[in-house]
Amino acid sequence: MLNQWSPSSWRQCPAEQQPDWPDEEQVNSVLDEISGFPPLVFAGEARTLKEQLANVCNGEALLLQAGDCAESFDSLSADAIRDNLKVILQMAVALTYSTGLPVVKVGRIAGQFAKPRSSPTETQDDLELPSFRGHIVNDPNFDAGSREANPRRLLQAYHQSSSTLNLLRAFTRGGFANLAQVHSWNQEFVANSPAGEHYRVIADGITDALAFMKACGVTSLNNSALNEVDFYTSHEALLLGYEEALTRTDSTTGDWYDCSAHMLWIGERTRQIDGAHIEFLRGVQNPLGCKIGPTVTPEEVLRICEILNPDSVPGRLTLISRFGADNIESCLPPIVEAVTNASHPVVWACDPMHGNTFTSSNGHKTRDLDDILSELSRFFSIHQSLGTWAGGIHVELTGGNVTECLGGADKLSDDDLHLRYETMCDPRLNASQSLELAFLVAEQLRQG
Ligand code: PEP
Ligand code: CO
Repeated sequence: MLNQWSPSSWRQCPAEQQPDWPDEEQVNSVLDEISGFPPLVFAGEARTLKEQLANVCNGEALLLQAGDCAESFDSLSADAIRDNLKVILQMAVALTYSTGLPVVKVGRIAGQFAKPRSSPTETQDDLELPSFRGHIVNDPNFDAGSREANPRRLLQAYHQSSSTLNLLRAFTRGGFANLAQVHSWNQEFVANSPAGEHYRVIADGITDALAFMKACGVTSLNNSALNEVDFYTSHEALLLGYEEALTRTDSTTGDWYDCSAHMLWIGERTRQIDGAHIEFLRGVQNPLGCKIGPTVTPEEVLRICEILNPDSVPGRLTLISRFGADNIESCLPPIVEAVTNASHPVVWACDPMHGNTFTSSNGHKTRDLDDILSELSRFFSIHQSLGTWAGGIHVELTGGNVTECLGGADKLSDDDLHLRYETMCDPRLNASQSLELAFLVAEQLRQG
């Protein structure tokens, strides 16, 4: 790690998972262009999110970070953005009611394009081509032209992020997020889901609470908090040239912020202590996440905390564990103990998706809702027994009615996966599986 940080100091460190751009000059000219574009978010918004995450860190709020595995250039539509936002808002209401705590809502959206890959190339029938790295880099079709990294895609990713954010801002401020409306969607879910009866207690409780507030004169007409929500954006900060181009000094504080999203995270494959991703992110003041998987050691996690949050600011760093249901019990406790003993304030979040991926009998990459729920449930119990606050949930979902993950009230099986398997990358929970997860977690937190 270098002592002197600058937005480009990462260039002196080894950077994993960067595309092989065919023409260096062309990438640089695109990045130059982006560095002249307006920021997508403001530093002040990232600071507010950091303050709200400090509440999660202190056990006074929850974090729900959710959205697509990889956003697609082919499915930019108002309906898709609306449906993703809708399911996240619905989940948040169930969690808020059952815990009595605010839920900080952060989408994997408006910039979640770049994907790390386990191998730089893919071979089919003796043809070896570069792996698909997300629409910000190349196209998934298996031919040489599609797989070549194209820097013009960086521009398209910026513009798609911008229009997605614009719509999110409109939805969250313009009445769509009205609490009574979100609750009515949840009532519909409870009425229509085969497992609905199970969640009726929570849903009825919310109905009563809303009626009580109304009787006391608190309605969306006189209280904007019932009509609007704070919704933040996040993505994996993978393509460092792109992130650098959107990094700006904040005029009020003089600090650097990566204005491509409110929150950025470092993936499991790019969290090398001396690597470029940690070097880049340590210098921007946004709230940060870092994924930690089964190979991480407590010592590495302590170094991550020291480098990314040297001033021990609560809300600055979220550790997102993704061990898998079978590993979490051996992997998580030593890390929680080390971090707690060293008094590093972190938000503890669980990504129950990436450690539970497997290939189904008929060849689809999938995840089973039972494994996902099992990892989450163990995450909550482990933290409870260690006396730490299990504040965050990080999931891949879509508001659409896809068939990518197994299980749930509709009992999706291997044979159903092909019906609407639409993801470009990892399998996502569909709307009803996502709500089921939220209601089950809500129930567990309520009992806990
Ligand atoms: C992801 O969140 O999409 C991802 C690739 O996760 P991880 O870095 O934890 O594997
Ligand atoms: Co993923």
